[in-house]
Amino acid sequence: MKWAKIIIGVVILAMLLAVGQTTFSFFSPPGESLDTIAAKWTQSGHSDRTSISFTYWDDDEPPVIPENCAKCHSLYGYLDYLGLDGRTPGQVDEPAPVGSVIYCYACHSQAAHALDSVVFPGNTEVTGLEWGEANCMNCHMGRQSTATVNDAIGNVGDDDVMEGQGFINVHYAVAAATQLGSEAAGGYQYAGKEYVGRYPHVPDYATCTDCHDAHSGQITPADCAPCHANVVAYDDLYDIRELPTDHDGDGDTQKGIYYEIQALHAALYDAIEAYAADVLGEPIGYAYGFPYWFVRDPETGEVLPGFPNRYMSWSPRLLRAAYNYQFVNKDPGAFSHNPEYALQLLYDSLEDLAARVPVAMEQYTRP
Ligand code: HEC
Ligand code: HEC
Ligand code: HEC
Ligand code: HEC
Ligand code: HEC
Repeated sequence: MKWAKIIIGVVILAMLLAVGQTTFSFFSPPGESLDTIAAKWTQSGHSDRTSISFTYWDDDEPPVIPENCAKCHSLYGYLDYLGLDGRTPGQVDEPAPVGSVIYCYACHSQAAHALDSVVFPGNTEVTGLEWGEANCMNCHMGRQSTATVNDAIGNVGDDDVMEGQGFINVHYAVAAATQLGSEAAGGYQYAGKEYVGRYPHVPDYATCTDCHDAHSGQITPADCAPCHANVVAYDDLYDIRELPTDHDGDGDTQKGIYYEIQALHAALYDAIEAYAADVLGEPIGYAYGFPYWFVRDPETGEVLPGFPNRYMSWSPRLLRAAYNYQFVNKDPGAFSHNPEYALQLLYDSLEDLAARVPVAMEQYTRP
């Protein structure tokens, strides 16, 4: 399998070189050897044909990936989205056959190298991007946003149950939505609140591929160590701390910003549970597996997993908070992608629930 991937990668690259040496000016002089690049890519999630991200549609009849999924889950769908082979740019025109992963050609075509803007869910266009990050963003933007949640809510009262409404799941690995903050509004942004925009971090470590190797997807902790003196090994990334504010009110301003986010995230879970049980009278619980929020057994109080037990008593207030809880959950790098945006979303969700259930808001500080 591994060798097959490497060979396919090298063959595609050789074809690219043959057709358009001049179009890919960065190929000369080469930095890393092709062997190194191919080996890195082979170890990345992008090449993992066994992942659910690429096998989910294999047994469908016919075995194709629908238009609304193919852009991010298929080489063919992504090429279609970029407008190759006479397709319409910015949309997937037809279902894609199963069987592909994110091959070299996804990111290395004339169209991919020319990309400098991206349209996020809710139709928000972000412009002025570098080509590399723009391609990452196209697939790591999530599938929902403030706008799509507001569309579902309409003018239903804050604590009224929305008939027939299911949970709105932002989707997975939504790094770009976090990084761009209010420029993409991928989190649920409460009316009347201000949110930070794109996280600038520092100029040399501002884009996806400044921090992540474009081919392995990995972070190299040694890159971060010159400025974040605590970093030696990979796990030390979680202890990075620059912001002085004590957001969770525990008196510790030295622990990693990751743990400040985790503390508010855990508090939000408690508030969501309290609100669903005490205000809506329908206890809720979170479990892994779509759609993540489930009802509890009336006798034992245990979360009942499985799609038929999905939670279906959403009020607008509960949906907004649960959306943000999941948004932060589905970006494991939120603490590096845009820590203040994550903290703002969590704080505002807690504050909204605090209108109806006891939450120790005086303890928390919003960035
Ligand atoms: C997910 C997108 C993506 C995929 C897939 C991808 N690349 Fe790249 N590649 C990039 C980006 C972005 C750069 C720009 C350099 C950087 O930012 O690190 C790059 C740079 C390169 C370079 C120039 C490297 C240098 O050091 O100058 C080569 C050669 C290359 N890629 C070959 C490949 C091959 C071969 C494959 C498949 C095995 C591949 N790429 C798959 C995104 C990708
Ligand atoms: C905007 C890009 C995008 C679109 C569109 C998209 N996905 Fe995904 N999806 C992703 C990414 C990125 C991941 C990878 C998350 C990870 O494993 O890190 C993912 C992961 C998944 C997973 C694996 C979840 C898990 O628990 O690991 C499933 C299943 C899935 N998507 C289904 C779908 C379906 C069904 C559609 C169409 C209705 C769809 N996706 C549309 C980007 C997208
Ligand atoms: C065409 C869609 C697409 C593009 C473009 C893309 N990704 Fe991905 N990415 C995915 C999917 C799908 C997965 C999940 C793969 C899996 O489950 O094995 C993923 C996984 C990842 C992961 C690992 C998360 C995990 O599942 O463990 C990282 C890190 C990542 N991508 C970073 C990047 C970066 C950086 C770029 C730009 C250079 C990029 N991606 C471009 C679709 C894409
Ligand atoms: C300041 C450095 C930095 C920047 C910029 C950055 N990331 Fe990350 N990213 C991280 C760190 C640190 C993690 C958490 C450690 C990890 O999961 O590897 C992470 C995690 C991730 C993950 C989850 C990986 C997993 O294992 O599930 C994905 C996907 C991802 N980043 C994609 C991106 C994309 C796409 C961009 C650009 C929109 C981006 N990142 C920008 C540092 C960065
Ligand atoms: C050139 C110096 C420099 C490098 C290299 C650097 N950073 Fe940073 N980083 C900073 C500065 C300065 C801040 C504070 C930025 C701010 O809050 O505006 C920061 C903030 C952060 C934060 C948020 C901390 C907090 O308390 O808000 C994280 C997480 C982070 N960096 C991760 C990384 C990772 C991961 C890498 C390596 C891939 C990295 N940084 C490389 C200078 C750097």
